[in-house]
Amino acid sequence: MKTDIESAYIILESRNPAALNKYLGEVIGLMPGAPTPDGASTWRADGKAQRVVLAQGQANDATAIGFELESRDALDAAVARLRKLGLDPVAGTAAQKQERRVKDMVSVPSPWGVQVELVLGLEEAATPFASKVYPNGFVTGSQGFGHFVFGVAGEGTYAAARKFALEGLGLKLSDYLRLPMGPVELNVSFFHCNARHHSLAIANIPAPEVPQKLHHINFEVKQVADVGAAYERALGAGTPIANMLGQHENDGMVSFYSVGPDGWQVEVGATGRQITDNWDDVREYNRISIWGHQPPAVFAQMQGLTAPAAAPVPETV
Ligand SMILES: [Fe+2]
Repeated sequence: MKTDIESAYIILESRNPAALNKYLGEVIGLMPGAPTPDGASTWRADGKAQRVVLAQGQANDATAIGFELESRDALDAAVARLRKLGLDPVAGTAAQKQERRVKDMVSVPSPWGVQVELVLGLEEAATPFASKVYPNGFVTGSQGFGHFVFGVAGEGTYAAARKFALEGLGLKLSDYLRLPMGPVELNVSFFHCNARHHSLAIANIPAPEVPQKLHHINFEVKQVADVGAAYERALGAGTPIANMLGQHENDGMVSFYSVGPDGWQVEVGATGRQITDNWDDVREYNRISIWGHQPPAVFAQMQGLTAPAAAPVPETV
């Protein structure tokens, strides 16, 4: 199953890029790429020159995501679809294209508050991808680059985001989650454009507003052993864990979520379910995971465990 568009990259802005670079390199295990002409740091997850771009700035959030189109015709068709929705995609300047390391690009604001960049010809890196911690690499290639999950607040924005993804970008609905939480409920729509179960998901958060647009970036690895090793690196580095190891019901992914220094999360997972031709399993799920994925504090409570005692304070003389 393959459409003419795939997830390509994410652009992040951080007030403290040094802490985020350390997290992406040492905990997540990405490979550093060459800095952009503007001096942003970049990270690689495969043979492409950059999959994550991290600039110094005030947002502490994602500012853009990129989708690569397979041809000029496909890009023109996507622009026409977006115009039909009343949007006005703008052509990238020469400097923007250099910064993104692409042959061509157009950019349009999305209902979830980040720019969506539609690009052609994401540059290949000058050197092969090599990683000590992922000798087998990440799952990319025909499945594009991982997935992104953004939060929105309110039915109107959620409906607009779904329309933008389906009718504008041309993504397809994989399935959706409806999770009653007392008087409110969490709704998430999952969208695919190739065999990866979802390249984008939009969550309607039951809150007046979302504190951060980006909820998480997912990096899919080729084996559960790589997920376990990443989990150990996160624990070893003292990185906060949002959700312990577990397996999602809809995409079958065995994964965990750690919290990066800017508050958004990274999911490292394996065994993701693949979308097949003529996908006919678009249905509602009412739980996130088959097992696990508890926040550590919830897990401790479920097990009747008490929080670990605070480390003794050394006596001073
Ligand atoms: Fe995810």
